[in-house]
Amino acid sequence: MSKNTFIKLLSDEVSRIDKTQTSKRHERVIDGFTNHPSPRAIMKGRGYILFNSNDYLGLRHHPRLKQAEHDASERFGAGPGAVRFISGSLKVHQDLERALARFHGREAAMLFSSAFAANLAVLFSFLKGQSKDSLVADNTVVVSDALNHRSIIDGIRLANLDAEHKRIFNHLDMKALDAVLASCVGKYERAVVVTDGVFSMLGEMQNLHAMRSVIDAYDDSFPHGVWLIVDDCHGVAACGATGRGTEELTGGRADILIGTLGKGFGADGGYVVADAVIIDYLRESSATYIYSNPVSPATAAAGLAGVQVVDSDQGQALLAQSQSNIACFKEEAASRSIPFVADSNHPIQPVLIGDPQIARTVTQGLFEAGIMVTSINYPVVPRGKDEIRVQISATHTHEDITSFLSILTRLIA
Ligand SMILES: Cc1ncc(COP(=O)(O)O)c(C=O)c1O
Repeated sequence: MSKNTFIKLLSDEVSRIDKTQTSKRHERVIDGFTNHPSPRAIMKGRGYILFNSNDYLGLRHHPRLKQAEHDASERFGAGPGAVRFISGSLKVHQDLERALARFHGREAAMLFSSAFAANLAVLFSFLKGQSKDSLVADNTVVVSDALNHRSIIDGIRLANLDAEHKRIFNHLDMKALDAVLASCVGKYERAVVVTDGVFSMLGEMQNLHAMRSVIDAYDDSFPHGVWLIVDDCHGVAACGATGRGTEELTGGRADILIGTLGKGFGADGGYVVADAVIIDYLRESSATYIYSNPVSPATAAAGLAGVQVVDSDQGQALLAQSQSNIACFKEEAASRSIPFVADSNHPIQPVLIGDPQIARTVTQGLFEAGIMVTSINYPVVPRGKDEIRVQISATHTHEDITSFLSILTRLIA
């Protein structure tokens, strides 16, 4: 009986969420893909152009990644068999870590099953230290951008800091960051500043060069310095002439950089790159690494092939094609007076709709016309600022883009 009472509570909660029209579980299920006339997802026998995928360069369908997956499965089997420190460390994991360290010009890299798992581990390890026996004292203040990704917020929550040790600065506001750091001087051993590189709702970019200047000015004011942790999941393999993302475009360098293999690189899994001593410490202190399987050998091999493709002439050509498609989208949208929420040169292009009901109707109308986009609603964006988050891929043709915009223009008229 008492279980039924709780079941009723769960059911009421799901109904409450459904009433807000923000439920996530009614997912559209893709049956497969076709390449004709340009890449399309197949659902119930019909082709859809995806304008809501993080596969910015189209690498998930690249023959080299698929062949690498197949070969790795033949060589290592379908799964890793164990966590890394038991018997799950396969040569392909190590090869991928070396390739990622080289790609980012760092001493070392460490793989996680996802970037979410990487963020939880990095933030917990840096903010809290390992245990009561840890040599790493926990008098650390974390300073976080107000619009950071959920995985950063949860990593900070995991560290269970009191309010005094958690500070938030206004989104993208370097004066606000400066003021927060100034107010922390003399109170903490060290400060950890954490930010997304690219913010996924609007495609805005943190200026890491400006941020580094603010941080470096305070480095000597803390006994252990000020550390910059950047999550560039939407930046790496998505923007910058060579795909190095926000660091490449804004000219600042993170002390610890987190990335994903599950977006621009076309595979799956997360990673951290940093100095070797930091990676050594993380391998000793990261629960989501020590007590959880790594990605399968096939996925690691696809990730490695993804890094190699991005770092090749073909990768540069795809990045250039992506930029050309973004420019085409922006020009065509401007000529049709379609409003943007923010000015972005990133593949994420946020189209302002405003009213939530109109955003839902437009998204549904596009779907009926064979185009998939995602509408972003309150509380992710402020009330009345509902948007359609368009994501441009290097594989879109200019015809895909113009036909999408003609339909959108008609629907919002
Ligand atoms: C900024 C940011 N960090 C982390 C993640 C999580 O990446 P993964 O899918 O590899 O866990 C995402 C994905 O949505 C993201 O946008």
